[in-house]
Amino acid sequence: MNPRTRSGRQPLLPSPARFVVAVGSGKGGVGKSTVSLNLAIGLAESGVPVGLLDADFYGPNIPLMTGLKRDRWAGDWALARRRNGQGKPSIPAMERFGIKLMSAGFIIAEDQPMILDGQTLPFLMRQLVAEVQWGELDYLIIDLPPGTADVQQALLRLLPFSGAVLVVTPQDVAHLDGKKAVQMFRRSGVRLLGAVENMSGFSCPHCHQPIDIFHHVPIDRSVWALDVECLGTIPLDPAISQAGDHGVPAMVAHSGSEQAAAFRAIAAAVRGQLEAGEQDGES
Ligand SMILES: Nc1ncnc2c1ncn2[C@@H]1O[C@H](COP(=O)(O)OP(=O)(O)O)[C@@H](O)[C@H]1O
Ligand SMILES: [Mg+2]
Ligand SMILES: [Zn+2]
Repeated sequence: MNPRTRSGRQPLLPSPARFVVAVGSGKGGVGKSTVSLNLAIGLAESGVPVGLLDADFYGPNIPLMTGLKRDRWAGDWALARRRNGQGKPSIPAMERFGIKLMSAGFIIAEDQPMILDGQTLPFLMRQLVAEVQWGELDYLIIDLPPGTADVQQALLRLLPFSGAVLVVTPQDVAHLDGKKAVQMFRRSGVRLLGAVENMSGFSCPHCHQPIDIFHHVPIDRSVWALDVECLGTIPLDPAISQAGDHGVPAMVAHSGSEQAAAFRAIAAAVRGQLEAGEQDGES
């Protein structure tokens, strides 16, 4: 009983959660994994069961950000060879900070490159979605790889996505590439819930004056010109990057901070939009 996406195309897999939410960006390094993880924790804090799939197969960062990295190199196809389950959930999800987690980085070592050819990738993708023991989930957040290439599009066809969150930074380039991601979601029939502007402004730790490190894109060249809702802004803050590198997300390491409040507000906005949509029967 797969709901059709808005494009009318039937997704290939049944939904592993009540709501599946993609977090995407046009560029890497804008904070997509940071937003995915803190958003997932924000949703879980509001009392619903949440999973997070790190679908950045070539550059999985969720293991480092959750302190669950693997040191031992694995055989390249350790996962793809695990065919005994034949589509049944046989891979236990990791659990941390109240959320269920899965990442290609739980299978290969931190410093091991993911060498995947075009034929193996779809297998891995399906396995990490359909063969993971997610249990009952209200939300599955999917941290997409950056960009709008084949992998992203294949993922968007694989699952019935309830919505997408775009992550941009203030600069022109992030918005230029972000607009391509907006078009990708719209063409795939995935409802764009809005965008988060990350690394937006910086407060000088000495005099507490706001400093704009990045030049702000003119509005008419930004994603906001495409009628995209702003779900929230997150300032540039060394605490966020330190928290991520130490395996304790900002939501947990600094749960009383302004940033944590911003992530909670983003989680509430996502939840509000999706649950209202479900009541209207349009989810
Ligand atoms: N608001 C922020 N302030 C400071 N550092 C940040 C912020 N958001 C992300 N970072 C850091 O920037 C780097 C890239 O973020 P990441 O979430 O990995 O981006 P992406 O997944 O888009 O490649 C990471 O080291 C992360 O800790
Ligand atoms: Mg990432
Ligand atoms: Zn100053």
